[in-house]
Parts: sequence; C-alpha cells; structure tokens
Amino acid sequence: MGLNGLLDIELSVPNPQELNDFWLRRGLVQTSDGVLGTVDRAVQLRIAEGSYRHMSELHLSCESEQGLADIAARIGAMGVDSTVTGTRLTCIDPVFAHRVVIDVGAQHPLSPAQQRAWNYAGDTQRTNNRAPAVVEDSLRVPRRLGHVVLATPHLDDVNAFMFEGLGVRISDQILGGAATMGRVEQDHHNLFIQPGATSSINHYAFEMDDLDAIGKAGQAVIDEYPEANVVGIGRHFIGSNVFWYLLDPAGNMFEFFTDMDQIIDGERWDREVGRRDWGSSENPLQFAVWGPKEPESFFFPADTDVIAAAREALGLR
Ligand SMILES: [Fe+2]
Repeated sequence: MGLNGLLDIELSVPNPQELNDFWLRRGLVQTSDGVLGTVDRAVQLRIAEGSYRHMSELHLSCESEQGLADIAARIGAMGVDSTVTGTRLTCIDPVFAHRVVIDVGAQHPLSPAQQRAWNYAGDTQRTNNRAPAVVEDSLRVPRRLGHVVLATPHLDDVNAFMFEGLGVRISDQILGGAATMGRVEQDHHNLFIQPGATSSINHYAFEMDDLDAIGKAGQAVIDEYPEANVVGIGRHFIGSNVFWYLLDPAGNMFEFFTDMDQIIDGERWDREVGRRDWGSSENPLQFAVWGPKEPESFFFPADTDVIAAAREALGLR
C-alpha cells in the first residue's frame, strides 16, 4: 500500500534553457515546455528557473488512496501538513523545502535494453563481428531517472520524514546511520540521504543500458565540457552499481549508472545480505570496489557556500 515509484524531479537553476538543451543533447526527449522524458517515460526531469541550483520537487507514486491517507497521518503526527486531493498528496519537505507530490499509480516497467553480445572468457557470444559498441552510430540514451541523493546537516529530521513519514524502505545504512539508502521501487536505492554542510542535492542519476552506454554517453559529455568529469568509471560497494559521475552545466552532479542491485524481497535482503553497518571495522567503507577515488568535491561541492547563502536569504535552514 506504500510508495511504489520515483516518477520525476524538478530542478531549479539560474539558467534553465542551458540545462534543458544539455539534456536534449544527451538524448532526453522534450515532451513539453521545460519537461524532459525518455522513450519509456514522458516525464523524468522538469527544469525551472531558480535563484540557485536545487531540487524543487520530488514526485513519487503510491499504490493506493489508503496509502496516501497513511502517509498524511504519519507526516501529520510529525507536524508536517499535507493536502490530499483525490489521488494526489502534496506537502513541503520540512528541511529541504522542496514540494513533495505523491500520486496514486502503478509502476511503469521499462522496455528491456537491446542486449549487446560480449565475449566472456570461455563464453564467446560474438564471433566474426566487431563489438556493437564499436560499430553503433548513435549513442544509447538515458533510460530512466533512477535515484536522487540529498545531503543535509539535519539528518535526524530528514530521515524521520523520509523513512518513517513517507515510508521509503531502507536498504542499507553506513557509518552507524549517518547515511541511509532507501527504495520505493526495487532498485537498491531511489533516495539516498547523506551528511552535508548545507541542505542540497548531491546528485541525480539516470539508468543506462550497460557499461558501454555509460562510457559512450559520459565521453560525449566530457568532449563538450572537459571539466565536467567528477569520478568514474567504477563500481560502488553499496548498491553494486557501475557509475560515472559528471557535472551538468548548472553545477549539479549527475550519474550514469547500470547494474544496480535489485531488491524484490526486503525480508530476504535484510536477513541474508543487507543493512550491514558499512564503515564499521567489519565492513570498512570504500567508495568503490574498483575505479578512481572520489575527489573532495564529491561530498563538498565547490558552490556549497553559494547554496547555503541562497537558502539563508530565503529563510531556509
Ligand atoms: Fe548515485
């Protein structure tokens, strides 16, 4: 009866046209003014004008009207007012101050990626042909918005709202709960809360078909903006996803990812594998299984002070 989908987000930035055009060049589709989608999902990214870069709306789906009522009751008990109109709940996130919109709806499956033959050792799947990634003319485009990572100094309040109030299901925590990864779909994480100097978006992430799709799409970005590279390609410990992190023209970090852990049985994940306290002596925390080490800017963006000042000017904590 709870949350079942990450539908889309709205990003507000000082130059929305520049960001819109950037994503059109990455293969997103303009579905209406300021709205970008993918082949499978007409709305994934909405882009608006704002005095500083931030996520201004989080749009989720929920299985039933009863689920909406339950969420309204839980967040109401925390002092967060919400409005339920028909099959939609709206409220304001008590820390980040973005709009939270939850619609009753079913999950939208993604059409399967076109598989590329890969010559594994002892299992040759492609003979007498060059690799598809070599001969394909066009880039594989982003398939869906997969997750959003938010940073804040107010972890207790955000975690209470997100995981207890909205009911995002916890998949893993690190450093004794300092960072929490949760899901509303079956991806290991659709929402990830981590410590930060000010409340801001750390990154948003698009799922890609495979490793070559990440490599070629990421390469196209740094061909345009060499300074856009942040860290990649590598494979994370937590969530297992292969990643490449880059900057969009507004200064938001985004990720192209593939091969994330999928959790369809939360009890089984918790019991057999997950919710380890990564960062403890038994499970030392590292950014990646393999790949470059993350730069300091991954956790401390260069414009943190700008965002903090903008939020202070708006009376936001
Ligand atoms: Fe990510």
